[in-house]
Amino acid sequence: MCGIVGYAGPGDCTDVLMDALSKLEYRGYDSAGIAVFEDNAITVEKAKGRLKNLEEKMEAGHRPKGHVGIGHTRWATHGEPSDINSHPHGNKRVSVVHNGIIENYIKIKRFLADKGYEFSSETDTETVAKLLDYYYNGNPGETIAKILRKIEGSYALGIIFSDFPDTIFAARKDSPLIIGVGEGENFIASDVPAILKYTRDYYLLEHNEIAVITRDSVSITDLDGEPVSKELQHAGWDEEAAEKNGYEHFMLKEIHEQPEVLKRTVLPRIMDGMPFLDECGITSDMLKSFRKIYIVACGTAMHAGLVGKYVIEKLARTEVIVDIASEFRYREPVIGDRDLVMLISQSGETADTKAVLRLAKEKRAVTISVVNVKGSSIARESDFVIYTHAGPEISVASTKAYTVQLSIMYLFAFQLALANGAITEKECRELIEELLSVPEKIEKSFDVAETCQYIGSKLINADSLLYIGRGLDYALSMEGSLKLKEISYIHSESYGAGELKHGTISLVTDGMPVIAVATQEDLLDKTISNIKEVKARGAKVILICKETTRVADDIADYQVKIPAVKDALMPMVAAVPMQMIAYYTAVLRGCDVDKPRNLAKSVTVE
Ligand code: M6R
Repeated sequence: MCGIVGYAGPGDCTDVLMDALSKLEYRGYDSAGIAVFEDNAITVEKAKGRLKNLEEKMEAGHRPKGHVGIGHTRWATHGEPSDINSHPHGNKRVSVVHNGIIENYIKIKRFLADKGYEFSSETDTETVAKLLDYYYNGNPGETIAKILRKIEGSYALGIIFSDFPDTIFAARKDSPLIIGVGEGENFIASDVPAILKYTRDYYLLEHNEIAVITRDSVSITDLDGEPVSKELQHAGWDEEAAEKNGYEHFMLKEIHEQPEVLKRTVLPRIMDGMPFLDECGITSDMLKSFRKIYIVACGTAMHAGLVGKYVIEKLARTEVIVDIASEFRYREPVIGDRDLVMLISQSGETADTKAVLRLAKEKRAVTISVVNVKGSSIARESDFVIYTHAGPEISVASTKAYTVQLSIMYLFAFQLALANGAITEKECRELIEELLSVPEKIEKSFDVAETCQYIGSKLINADSLLYIGRGLDYALSMEGSLKLKEISYIHSESYGAGELKHGTISLVTDGMPVIAVATQEDLLDKTISNIKEVKARGAKVILICKETTRVADDIADYQVKIPAVKDALMPMVAAVPMQMIAYYTAVLRGCDVDKPRNLAKSVTVE
């Protein structure tokens, strides 16, 4: 939520900031703003709405010229999206961009109001800017350290002081921030894609560290001013990976990347045809020692965990409890040192998931995270990390991150099942072989694009629809339903097919679309019965099943047939038509697919 950037170098600062912000717009697009040193004074430009509004405003008015500055793209938390609430905040002396939430901002505001300060915005960030101004003693490092001891909450901050026109200052706690290191130019950014055009080298700023950045130097200290030395990180992907490459939307590009990123994620975790999570430090002995497994995450990542539960319980016979992080953290869960808590997160920065990680550590449980963004907070703080190698996922709607998370659920389940003696080595080898065939099956499943587009054209006027399935199909249909509603704004719910008659079937009226997922052989007849029940009440049924499944033509109004793998692995293949139906429906409804309203890619506030 919110993206911040900063630049110090020989280039046109406004151009660089606007370009870098365009790579972070997925983090929020309620407003955008920049503060640039122009003739040694701070010039601020900001506008409500997308970055292009700011671009247009500057074109029509004033475009700051300079070489040092900071920028922000906002996902509103405190105060509505408006010009006045846009960042940067501050005055002629200090300007601030912020990602996070200052929890004690009301107290600080009262303190500053008593000292005569007036506030123009409703934001928590303005209190940081004014607090810096109040305590400023000519030494920015000391002033920043002082106010960091007074503010509570989460923050990544980019700060400039008019007395230091060649310098950006940065600090963070609980919100991500990197320092990009270029040749004769340096950067700050919330995420790596913002700097890839200029450099692939960066430092990860840690909690309570302060960075001082000029065009040819980066120095980092702790709050006491003690220098901190750091290892330079190198981004494993280049700018192209964070571009659309000819696809109309990032979402479509990322759907098509799934075969490739699956191979990248799975192959290093297979040794001699057997699962090998040992490369992440996770051994079979360790796995079988757990009493219970908790999988905790948010949104799509939680849906990956649900598939994990079905597969781990079925194959490995270990109890798995799945929960959404925002619930889990407040319900006093019964966890202890014999339990494993697994956190799944694409960004590795989701506030609720991070809080659960900390809670689990407090309770002395072993923690394993499944994370996509290298060096993110969750990855760094958990006992073990299994990286998914999906590359940058820019579309707010998660697609490739989900399928790679599923692949880790499978590898984990196989290794645990083997360790528990619940499957034989031969069975394990067969499962691995099947897992290795999934990328090719996904490639083939792209053939359903046209059918999905056609189905999308039939859904565009729906007010509401249902997704139904049983077992793994139910777990997958939750993800299908989320995908559709988040990008097309059509209301949808997912139900266990057998649960419909306990209330929900009363919603079914003539013409209501029902998407039925039926990829599990042992549950097929039961799901078909449920389909007949909704069809008898007028539903328009879209059936997603394996190409080998034979059902009567009149069972469904539309059938989407996908390549078959072993039932346990079907969610990875069946995810594709789910994603495509959501995508085409949203496109045909004219929605902004990559940046759905009210959402942000990385939810760093609770
Ligand atoms: O970065 P995370 O995986 O922790 O994000 C969790 C959810 O916010 C995320 O999966 C969200 O539900 C998706 N963007 C929806 O497509």
